[in-house]
Order: sequence, then C-alpha cells, then structure tokens
Amino acid sequence: MTKHTSSTLTVPEISAIPRHVAIIMDGNGRWASKRFMPRVAGHAEGLRAVRKVVQECVTQGVEYLTIFAFSSENWRRPPEEVGFLMKLFLKSLSGEVSTLAENKITLRMIGDLSRFDPAIQELVKFSEEKTAGGQRLTLTVAANYGGRWDILQAMQKCVALHPNLKPEQVSEALLQPHLSMAYAPEPDLFIRTGGEQRVSNFLLWQLAYTELYFTDTLWPDFDEVELRKAFDWFGQRERRFGRTSAQLAAGVTAEPMSDAV
Ligand code: IPE
Ligand code: IPE
Ligand code: MG
Repeated sequence: MTKHTSSTLTVPEISAIPRHVAIIMDGNGRWASKRFMPRVAGHAEGLRAVRKVVQECVTQGVEYLTIFAFSSENWRRPPEEVGFLMKLFLKSLSGEVSTLAENKITLRMIGDLSRFDPAIQELVKFSEEKTAGGQRLTLTVAANYGGRWDILQAMQKCVALHPNLKPEQVSEALLQPHLSMAYAPEPDLFIRTGGEQRVSNFLLWQLAYTELYFTDTLWPDFDEVELRKAFDWFGQRERRFGRTSAQLAAGVTAEPMSDAV
C-alpha cells in the first residue's frame, strides 16, 4: 500500500488536474420532483451521471474518484426510498463490475458495510477482488459512511493495536494509517452538486486542505462539461497550505512539520 502523508504535516505536490476528486452527489430527489416523477427516479438517473464522471476522470488523468452514495444519516429516509437505493446499489454493482475491470478501474468501498444485507456485502467483496490492481483510476464508493464514524473506527483500531498507548503518543501519523482512505492521498477537489453548501459528515478528516466547489446543478444533470468547469475553477486556486502568496511566488518549499503540537 502506498503511504500518503497528511496535508497538515507535509505540503502535497500541486497539479493543475486534481489527483483526487471527492463528490457529494446531491439533488436527485429534486431533479425527479421537478419532473413530477417519484424521487427514486432521480436516483436511477443519477447513475448515468456517475458513468459520465468516471469516464471523464479517466480521460483527464484523475487518479482517485470518491463518491458519496449513502450516508450514515440516510437511514433516516423513508424505508421505501432506502430499500430502492439498496436495490439500485446491488443492481449497479453487479451490472458495472465487468466494465470497471475491463477499463482498469479499481473499485473500493468505504463505510460501515456490516449494516448492509449479506448479499450486498458478498458482492462488494467480489467486486473489489475482481477490479483489484486496475491502474487507471481508483473509484471509491462511500456507503453507510460518516466522517465521524471513520475517525472513531480509526481510533478504536489504534487503541486495539497499542493497548498501552499514552495520551502523548497519540498522533496524526499513528491514526492516519487506520482511516478508511489511507490508501489514497487526501482529496484535492471536493464537489457538491444540488446547491447546498455543507459537508454532511463526508470525509471530515481528509478534507482538511481540500478545495471546496459547490454548484446548483442537480446531480443527474452533472456531466463531463460540468466536471471540466469544476476543474477550471480548481486550476485558479492558490493552494497555500498555510504559507503566504509571497512565499509561494518565491518558490519557498515548506519543511515537513513535526507531529508534536
Ligand atoms: C442525493 O440526492 C442522493 C442520496 C442521498 C442517496 P438526494 O436524494 O439527497 O436529493 P435531494 O437533495 O432530495 O434533491
Ligand atoms: C449527502 O446528501 C449524502 C449523499 C449524497 C449520499 P444528503 O442529501 O443526504 O445531505 P443532507 O442531509 O441534505 O445534508
Ligand atoms: Mg439531498
């Protein structure tokens, strides 16, 4: 597994195209309601947008794409909608896995999968195995995922591994390998469709220095043109990671920070 350090400890390499894009795909229900269709029709349509965005990420040379499919809070929705989402998830996983493997796309799932139906858990395992080693893109699907859950599960693993841990030994470097996205660099670009400007318990730890892009476009209407717009916006950001503009202009490279506070 590649080791990725934290943006608060080391300044990551900056590139015009984000290495890692994380997306909250929001607005499916409103897209459907606007057309007098049931909310779930918006979810089905949303899958088409996922295909377009995956394809464009491959074309643009993005290395990691992470999409929020179901949050730990989405269980609060009406049971029929949750049931539909589970079925859609199962159907799209089984339908897409061969295409992903053929296109050398590695599929990873993050989130507490233990709450899902055993059939889904089995299929996830199979899909991850079948697509393992794909070099063109790592597509991570966050399902029953919550940023707080992620930090807590990492903490629990740490404590289990080091039962005699002293408070002063707790550090970012110790925790980081246990976070569910330890295999990826932190997201460079976060996109949220659907007009809301909030993080909704997505990758809380990992978004520390991510550029945040919000668009009113509803997820089923999001496509390669919309993605390129987000990339253009990203290209205009000055990513300072704590330094000043003058330091950046002078080409000052930051020393890695010590993990001690
Ligand atoms: C996002 O779309 C998809 C999921 C949460 C699964 P929504 O279903 O939240 O759509 P809106 O926000 O109600 O329009
Ligand atoms: C966030 O969307 C979760 C996903 C896209 C899966 P929501 O629509 O559930 O977010 P909130 O609850 O309105 O913030
Ligand atoms: Mg929503």
